[in-house]
Amino acid sequence: MSQPVAKVSLTGIKPTGEPHLGNLIGAIRPALQLAEQYDSVYFIADYHALTTVRDPELLRHYSRSVAATWVAAGLDPTRTTFYVQSDVPEIFELNWVLSCVTGKGLMNRAHAYKAARDRNVEAGEEPDAGVNMGLYNYPILMAVDILIMESDVVPVGKDQVQHVEYAADIAGSFNHLYGKSYSFKVPKAIIPDAGTGHTLPGLDGRKMSKSYDNTIPLFLPENKLKKLVRRIPTDSTPVEDPKDPDSSSVFQILEQFAPASAADIVADTRKRLEAGGMGWGELKNVLFEVLNTELGPLRERYDALMEPGSELDTMLAEGAEKARERAGRVLGSVRKAIGVGK
Ligand code: ADP
Ligand code: TRP
Repeated sequence: MSQPVAKVSLTGIKPTGEPHLGNLIGAIRPALQLAEQYDSVYFIADYHALTTVRDPELLRHYSRSVAATWVAAGLDPTRTTFYVQSDVPEIFELNWVLSCVTGKGLMNRAHAYKAARDRNVEAGEEPDAGVNMGLYNYPILMAVDILIMESDVVPVGKDQVQHVEYAADIAGSFNHLYGKSYSFKVPKAIIPDAGTGHTLPGLDGRKMSKSYDNTIPLFLPENKLKKLVRRIPTDSTPVEDPKDPDSSSVFQILEQFAPASAADIVADTRKRLEAGGMGWGELKNVLFEVLNTELGPLRERYDALMEPGSELDTMLAEGAEKARERAGRVLGSVRKAIGVGK
């Protein structure tokens, strides 16, 4: 009897900055958990970053940094198909094909594009000022990423759900036209934090995000990590007063980040805050210790992977080969279905 084929989980991270705690907790860890049950396909979306990152050295650095982060966080490249998007040319051929079955109106309604227009209008600029066609077509390229790997589920943050719905729509348009010969699988978004609704707060209490410049990057040297933790804002409640752990960014980061092995520390810290007698300074020391204990070994692995010529190169080269094989199969069927090639 043949084994049932595992469902495919796919996600990509855009290399637009140094990976931070929010990325680890909100994206990387949950994706790695899914990799235990799914046929997992995880990649670095460098061509998506090109819509904003214009410095070639930076783009190269961020791409490597995101790749090294995945591996340092536990991705096993022998189990996961792990690659850099730009190493898979099949994606860009399918990008054209799917552009030809996608309505322009759909792109007009995309959140990211609409938000850019709204900002321009508010600032009294031309609605499309500063909008490049990469930003406009972004959802089509993302649909290709998803469809070419025959994805069943796509773990993403809330802001990306529309893009996955677009991928499903675009699959539908293609299937309607060519379904007799080839049909794409229709993907579904899953939001890893849906159960908790948690978003990790950043250094200013807003969502931790590169866009707000308020992140705690994952692999800072110890002294810098300590300094950043000290910068998380707290109020002026005196040390002896009882405090509400759930309204403190420092405690939230501790609670969401702490591994199971530090559950006792979290529970004890909660009790001590509620009872009074624990100051914010001491809470920050606890957070720093937990972060540093957990991230220390990952940092070492990350630094080694970031070295030029490290094993990361082989992992990505092998990953690209696997990805091209998967993508090539689908692209072959698509070419046949639409009437190009032999
Ligand atoms: P940023 O907001 O820093 O630009 P991205 O949009 O590149 O981060 O996010 C990549 C992934 O990390 C997404 O899946 C997103 O949901 C997750 N993520 C980013 N910031 C946070 C956060 N503060 N809390 C939880 N998840 C986050
Ligand atoms: N657009 C996603 C983001 O900004 C990154 C991404 C590109 C992606 N291609 C993808 C995510 C395919 C999931 C599936 O976070």
